[in-house]
Amino acid sequence: MRGSQVARAIALGLASTTAFAAVNDATYDSSLNFRPDNVTSSDLYHWVGSYYNGSTTIEIEPFGGIAAQEEGTNDATWCPNLKDKTYSTKFDTILGLTERSKYNAGNNPLNAFLTLWDVGYNFSSLNASQGITDLPWDWALFSSLPLDSYNGSFTEPDIFNLTLAETTKAPYNLSSTFTQYGSESTFDTTFPILFNMTSCNGTQDIDWSGYMISNYYWPSTGSNVSYPDPTLDIVFDSKTAKLTINGYIQAVEGCEEKPTNQDFCEADTIIEAKMTVTFEGTIDSYHSDELETASSKPAWIKTVGFNNITQTSGNSTSGSGNSDKKNGSNGHQYPGAFPLVASLAVLLASSLYI
Ligand SMILES: *[C@@H]1O[C@H](CO)[C@@H](O)[C@H](O)[C@H]1NC(C)=O
Ligand SMILES: *[C@@H]1O[C@H](CO)[C@@H](O)[C@H](O)[C@H]1NC(C)=O
Ligand SMILES: *[C@@H]1O[C@H](CO)[C@@H](O)[C@H](O)[C@H]1NC(C)=O
Ligand SMILES: *[C@@H]1O[C@H](CO)[C@@H](O)[C@H](O)[C@H]1NC(C)=O
Ligand SMILES: *[C@@H]1O[C@H](CO)[C@@H](O)[C@H](O)[C@H]1NC(C)=O
Ligand SMILES: *[C@@H]1O[C@H](CO)[C@@H](O)[C@H](O)[C@H]1NC(C)=O
Ligand SMILES: *[C@@H]1O[C@H](CO)[C@@H](O)[C@H](O)[C@H]1NC(C)=O
Ligand SMILES: *[C@@H]1O[C@H](CO)[C@@H](O)[C@H](O)[C@H]1NC(C)=O
Ligand SMILES: *[C@@H]1O[C@H](CO)[C@@H](O)[C@H](O)[C@H]1NC(C)=O
Ligand SMILES: *[C@@H]1O[C@H](CO)[C@@H](O)[C@H](O)[C@H]1NC(C)=O
Ligand SMILES: *[C@@H]1O[C@H](CO)[C@@H](O)[C@H](O)[C@H]1NC(C)=O
Ligand SMILES: *[C@@H]1O[C@H](CO)[C@@H](O)[C@H](O)[C@H]1NC(C)=O
Repeated sequence: MRGSQVARAIALGLASTTAFAAVNDATYDSSLNFRPDNVTSSDLYHWVGSYYNGSTTIEIEPFGGIAAQEEGTNDATWCPNLKDKTYSTKFDTILGLTERSKYNAGNNPLNAFLTLWDVGYNFSSLNASQGITDLPWDWALFSSLPLDSYNGSFTEPDIFNLTLAETTKAPYNLSSTFTQYGSESTFDTTFPILFNMTSCNGTQDIDWSGYMISNYYWPSTGSNVSYPDPTLDIVFDSKTAKLTINGYIQAVEGCEEKPTNQDFCEADTIIEAKMTVTFEGTIDSYHSDELETASSKPAWIKTVGFNNITQTSGNSTSGSGNSDKKNGSNGHQYPGAFPLVASLAVLLASSLYI
């Protein structure tokens, strides 16, 4: 796949710069949305933009809503232990809202990269040379395939359209209806959601893989139930972000390998379920550029990788102080907490001893 090949090529560059202190990136092209190569974070943070840490809850209601009309639903022997139940799973989450670039085709105002992880996932253990699409998340939703480099001669389509509600300033409100989810062109970049739920006919938990149903491919599966296309909403400003998805999924239990698209695995048991995804997060200012909040469209002033942070205010409880040095200014790979802790300590000391 193009994305990961490119990712690997870039990764070699990243890996070699980590061995030295941060140096100027001679090949840096400020007209693209990539951060300079002296930024040594994992590939999760390769693009200019805002990154939010938070928690996602996925609620799954097997045979819920319209799915109750699906053939076999009233058959008492079909997944009896799942009926009339709602399963709720939490995931640690990183939402990247990033700048667009000249290779992005379409009218989206930004690119949205959402990744869901096991609760308590140790992000320091991420392999810095792996592309974002190859990382061990439980689910990733990309508004377009995240690229790590650009050779000047291709365009990358959007997987879904994002519409920005009219406004004069932040918060920004984006919404989408997934009309082409599961199409040939988005196939390689849409992924199943991995979660735990009671097995269809037993009582113990088992791994399930779910894939969102859209009208683009669903009628051809032979189902006589018509589901609405999934919808997405994102509201964000420079401090917080909220995201909601409403849709239906088909899900199978016990796939042995991590599936790559809607053809997840051969399985006897396929169910349909109603799904609600809700994310709430706060800004990870260490990994974020400065969001301009006073204009009608979101835009960023580049700071990550440059020693030119202008904002020194900001002292929210989530530690979003902008006075901490940005990645790239010290050449460490995952120093996240340290500059932040140091600056908080200084703040505390000064307020206590003045
Ligand atoms: C990182 O590389 C960019 C692009 O070459 C350069 O402008 C910037 O000063 C570098 N940052 C550091 C901390 O050396
Ligand atoms: C779907 O097909 C089944 C079996 O033929 C039938 O019982 C059910 O009423 C149909 N549902 C709809 C919504 O047409
Ligand atoms: C997280 O991963 C890093 C790198 O592999 C490791 O050094 C550290 O001990 C891990 N932390 C925990 C709490 O397991
Ligand atoms: C990191 O990923 C690269 C590329 O996929 C691989 O060659 C390398 O072995 C991985 N390193 C570790 C420590 O897993
Ligand atoms: C640029 O990359 C695209 C996608 O990988 C590839 O199809 C194209 O041949 C490349 N063009 C050049 C000039 O390398
Ligand atoms: C986005 O909207 C445009 C214009 O309405 C449409 O042509 C295109 O097919 C849509 N793309 C997706 C991925 O939904
Ligand atoms: C965001 O926009 C949608 C669609 O216009 C609207 O339904 C929703 O109420 C808006 N939300 C906020 C928080 O402004
Ligand atoms: C559940 O179904 C599977 C596959 O049909 C079967 O192998 C298993 O024994 C069943 N388990 C129970 C508890 O009925
Ligand atoms: C999910 O269920 C599997 C059993 O198939 C178990 O191995 C795994 O630890 C569970 N995962 C979580 C996050 O509970
Ligand atoms: C956000 O999460 C990342 C990955 O665990 C971490 O490096 C960063 O320090 C966190 N930032 C905040 C403000 O919680
Ligand atoms: C920091 O420097 C970069 C590269 O020169 C520039 O694009 C960016 O606008 C600067 N940011 C600020 C906040 O001045
Ligand atoms: C930061 O905290 C100080 C002291 O509590 C307060 O006076 C100031 O308004 C805060 N600044 C911001 C930007 O919230």
